[in-house]
This record gives sequence, C-alpha cells and structure tokens, in this order.
Amino acid sequence: MALAEQIEPAEPLVRVEDLTVRFPGGRAGFWGQTELEVHAIERMSFEIFPGETLGLVGESGSGKTTAGRAVLGRTPVKSGHIYFDGRDITNIEGDARRLLSRDMQLIFQDPYASLNPRMRILDLVAEPLIVHGLVRNRDEAVDEVKELLRKVGLPANAFERFPHAFSGGQRQRVVIARALALKPRFIVADEPVSALDVSIRAQVVNLLQDLQQEFGLTYLFIAHDLSVVQHVSDRIAIMYAGKLFEIGSADAIYSNPKHPYTEALLSAVPVPDPVIQRSQKRIVFEGEPPSPIYPPKGCRFAKRCPLATAQCENEEPPLAEKAPGQFAACWNRN
Ligand SMILES: Nc1ncnc2c1ncn2[C@@H]1O[C@H](COP(=O)(O)OP(=O)(O)OP(=O)(O)O)[C@@H](O)[C@H]1O
Ligand code: SF4
Ligand SMILES: [Mg+2]
Repeated sequence: MALAEQIEPAEPLVRVEDLTVRFPGGRAGFWGQTELEVHAIERMSFEIFPGETLGLVGESGSGKTTAGRAVLGRTPVKSGHIYFDGRDITNIEGDARRLLSRDMQLIFQDPYASLNPRMRILDLVAEPLIVHGLVRNRDEAVDEVKELLRKVGLPANAFERFPHAFSGGQRQRVVIARALALKPRFIVADEPVSALDVSIRAQVVNLLQDLQQEFGLTYLFIAHDLSVVQHVSDRIAIMYAGKLFEIGSADAIYSNPKHPYTEALLSAVPVPDPVIQRSQKRIVFEGEPPSPIYPPKGCRFAKRCPLATAQCENEEPPLAEKAPGQFAACWNRN
C-alpha cells in the first residue's frame, strides 16, 4: 500500500450537510392566516467516523433529539443532505429505508417508556429479528435473545419475564439488547442514562463502550451536559437554539474551547478535585435562548453573550476553523 493511502483519513460513516429541520408551529394573525414554523435545526453540518463516538451536547430545546432523529430518517428534513457510508439517504423510504434501519438504531432516554409493559423480554428483543425475517422459529429466537441478553450483562432466563420485573438500569440493558439485535453499525443514543439512578449510570455507559469495542459501533451520543459525554466521546459537538456552535476533539473542547457558550457549559462541569472546583468560576448567563419561531438574524447567543458586539446582533457567524480540526461559530474568538 502506498504511503499516501495509509495516511488517507477514513471516510465518514455519517455525514450531515447543511441540515435544516422545521416543525409546524401553529398559526398567527387575526384569522390565523400566517403559518408559523419552529426552526428546530438550521444549516447544521457534521461528520461521524467509523468506530467513533460524537458527543452532542446542548440545553433543552437546542435540537439534539431532532438532529438524531433526522439522521435516522425519523423526522422530515426541510433541506440539506444525510449520507450514510457515502450514500445519500436523505429521502430514502419504503423497503430501502427498512433495510437501512438494520444498520442504524436508536436508544431512547427512558427505558420505562420504550418497552411495552405487556410484552415479554423475549418478544421485545426478538421483534426486530422477526420483522426483518432473521429468525425462522421460536427456538432460533430464544437462542438469539439469550445471546443478546448475555452480551448486555443480563441473565439468560430474563427472556421469560416482563419489563416490570427489572430495574431502570436492567431495562436500559434490554433496550440496548434490542437495538443490537440487527447488528447495526451506527447507534444514536439519546440521553441513554439521564433517566437512570446516578449510581448506575457509569455501568450503562461502560456497557455501551464495551459493546462499541466488541462490535465496532459508531455512536452519536446525546447529552444535556458536558460531564456525561466527557469520557465517552472522541469528538464533541455543541448545539444552541438549533445551531451548531462548536465541534472538535473532546480534548480540545475541554482544554481550549473556542466558543463563549462552550466555556459556560464547561464551567458547570464538576471537577473531582475540591480545591480546583472551588477556584473554578461558574459562568452564568442571564436570559433565555431565543424563540425558535422567531430566531434572531445575527448570532443566536447575542442577547446572553458578554462578548457580543453590534456585528453579532446583525450577522450570523459562520462555523470557522479556529484550530486544526476545531470549528466554532463566533465573530470574536480566535
Ligand atoms: N414534533 C414537534 N413539533 C413541533 N416542535 C417540535 C417537535 N419536536 C421538537 N420540536 C421543537 O424543536 C426544538 C428542538 O427540540 P428537540 O427535542 O430536538 O430538542 P432537544 O435538544 O432534544 O431538547 P431536550 O434536551 O429537552 O431533549 C424545540 O423548540 C422543540 O420544541
Ligand atoms: S458571535 Fe458574538 S454573540 Fe455570538 S458567541 Fe461570538 S461574541 Fe458572542
Ligand atoms: Mg432531546
């Protein structure tokens, strides 16, 4: 193999290009003549490389779930493109979409809501295998499900029980087993531990990491705050009010953030050393994020940002490379 080929960077498994998603936002005007739109995601671009975990962080309503769902084809896209393994999958439907869904799975935040309480674990985990015609009879389903349960650290006899027999952490393991059933290559984990007891969050995160190693999985790992994704992410993307504000390696984001909003999020991350924690200044911004129905024309952070200038109010900052591989959308930071 030629040297140039050896150092060629891998092709992304997932590529999102200029993604815009809007939802119906009701009507306005005396006679309801104006249709409003929720600007959930505006011109967002990012890539995820094979075997990588991209952490996606932002406060509530910033568009994280919408981004994950759009990548999986579960939310209509207004404009932009989504590529998987080099293929444009933006508007794929029907059988092609069903086939693709084997490769791309979703793990929800709430294991209580995502498991039908009237189904046994066997049926819950085997369902995708049956839908895709991958098991021929019950015996084959039982064998597959037992193996999947073993992989996620549950006893093999768990397959006979109903979800109510399990704790939150165990249920999330069932959800993970179900997501793994079709041997996906890519998983969107949407706040997979937020609904769990703090004491068991690390176990579930460790499980996801072990499975990533074992199966060569690629993750989009969504979280509210930076502390959750710190140890699992290779790179981190920061969202605010539907915009991608910063993206870069986890090390760069933690040690040298290039966006004032990332700095604020970082200042809220607890540090294990109490001396450092005391000396760390928490940055608190006044005010609220802008309305998603009437987003401002300039930087969406301008009303809360201590560095804001007139330019910020009027012109939207582009995502620019501030350091090698680290991009941020800010006029006033280098
Ligand atoms: N089906 C929908 N119809 C209308 N608006 C929606 C819909 N889904 C999401 N939104 C809006 O889109 C924006 C982004 O929502 P989204 O759920 O993606 O945010 P999030 O970052 O995942 O928030 P959270 O941290 O609370 O889960 C919000 O303003 C939300 O109210
Ligand atoms: S562009 Fe302006 S308002 Fe936006 S983050 Fe940078 S300094 Fe703050
Ligand atoms: Mg969400």
